[in-house]
Amino acid sequence: MGFMIRKPAGEEGKTLPAILIGIFVAFGGILFGYDTGSINGILAMDYFQNEFGTERNSEGNLALTSSQTSLVVSILSAGTFFGALTASPVGDMLGRRMGLIAACGVFSVGVAFQVASTAIPLMVVGRLLAGFGVGLVSALVPMYQSETSPKWIRGTIVGCYQLAITIGLLLAACANQGTHNRNDTGSYRIPLAIQFLWAIILSIGMFILPETPRFLIKKDNYEGAARSMSRLRSLPPDHPAIIEELNEIKAIHEYEMSLGQATYADCFSPKMLKRLLTGCGLQALQQLTGINFIFYYGTQFFKNTGIENAFLIGLITNLVNVVSTIPGLYLVERLGRRRLLLLGAIGMCVCEFIVAIVGVTVFTDVANKVLIAFVCFYIFFFAVSWGPVAWVVTGEIFPLKVRAKCLSMTTATNWLLNFAIGFATPYMVDDGPGNANMGAKVFFVWGGCCFFCIAFVYLMIYETKGLSLEDVDQMYEKVDKAWQSRGFQPEVNFGAHHQKDEFAGDV
Ligand code: GLC
Repeated sequence: MGFMIRKPAGEEGKTLPAILIGIFVAFGGILFGYDTGSINGILAMDYFQNEFGTERNSEGNLALTSSQTSLVVSILSAGTFFGALTASPVGDMLGRRMGLIAACGVFSVGVAFQVASTAIPLMVVGRLLAGFGVGLVSALVPMYQSETSPKWIRGTIVGCYQLAITIGLLLAACANQGTHNRNDTGSYRIPLAIQFLWAIILSIGMFILPETPRFLIKKDNYEGAARSMSRLRSLPPDHPAIIEELNEIKAIHEYEMSLGQATYADCFSPKMLKRLLTGCGLQALQQLTGINFIFYYGTQFFKNTGIENAFLIGLITNLVNVVSTIPGLYLVERLGRRRLLLLGAIGMCVCEFIVAIVGVTVFTDVANKVLIAFVCFYIFFFAVSWGPVAWVVTGEIFPLKVRAKCLSMTTATNWLLNFAIGFATPYMVDDGPGNANMGAKVFFVWGGCCFFCIAFVYLMIYETKGLSLEDVDQMYEKVDKAWQSRGFQPEVNFGAHHQKDEFAGDV
């Protein structure tokens, strides 16, 4: 399969509405990216430090201490962790669509607190609440997408979610760049207030868009499911193709229900444990590559290394992140998941060791330029591989019955490590009493983690490129070792049966 992903022959109805809906919902990634990225530049704003700081730094200015910095940064990821864990019950009770609207509501309350705050406690509560909303969004978006996207283009649509995350990070850097030099004390509130905009756009969109047909069938609302499917496929609700498809979803759902409700224990059953470890390991290692060190502390780090225009460099690193994600959407289908993850990890490892060595040994303008260049190469390798592929792979390895639960656990793992890194980094990097004062040496840590990434992919990641979700399931049953998974041929009948089911999401 190449980049020109084609709709399979024999498909009835138009696929464009379903694709556009999937891409619009990826907008949730903007909330995710903007929210995680905006704090980076806000922390580097003198007005912010003056207003919220309680102690004087070596230059005699009020500034946040390392513990305050780490709290303000990492509390968001603590909220997102619980939000992601809550996504499975919220998505099942309120629905995917109303769940996303509710998430935007919680997020907006958190943003209001942040904008109103003039001291650390309210800011922390605001970031915790906003984080909870982002955590819900981060698990509900792929859930909604997987249940509405045509199967043959699902990987690309989930990849668009990562693209939206990177665009969100870039928008945050732009907002920071545009406001950090403004001569008024409340300027840091502008990038904070912009967060409302993303929540408003996403919730208005979700009011207009349909609930997923799968959720409606689960709630025994067959007419609603028919209307939803008809919008996704541009066919009348009583069209035979719609009726056939809904009947199939219904039959599979009823069969699953006859086996009993899925419980969390099922996710840890011997059969599922390998996949759960794969998903959680992949998300944990994605964070341990150190990517968010750049997006949370990059501006501060570049400033400390003596680089002028640290805000601009922050902007450039974000641009590299967005632009490099685009070939990733192509390569994930071209090279496959395993090869792309391996190449990405090797590339990141080399670049991070170069950044560490240059940052620790040479202190000239040229050295700074080399450092910036290799940070950009490192981001390129991340964005083209681990950025999108971690989300794509976790979205495709779990069978339907436990999918929402497992996905919410793998997403929560991503946030847990995100939190741990956001929390620990100031203690690792800054020079202060009791801190490790590592400076650029921290890149040895991230580079070292990339060794684990290489081993993990080799041992654990199955090649799922071009397989339907049912074929993936079959592969996990039949192939023992991940490194033997390339070239797996699904049984013809099994695959053919499911070819019909391009619109049924994960059914
Ligand atoms: C991935 C990571 C996220 C990171 C982003 C950077 O989505 O999960 O934590 O901020 O990539 O592009």
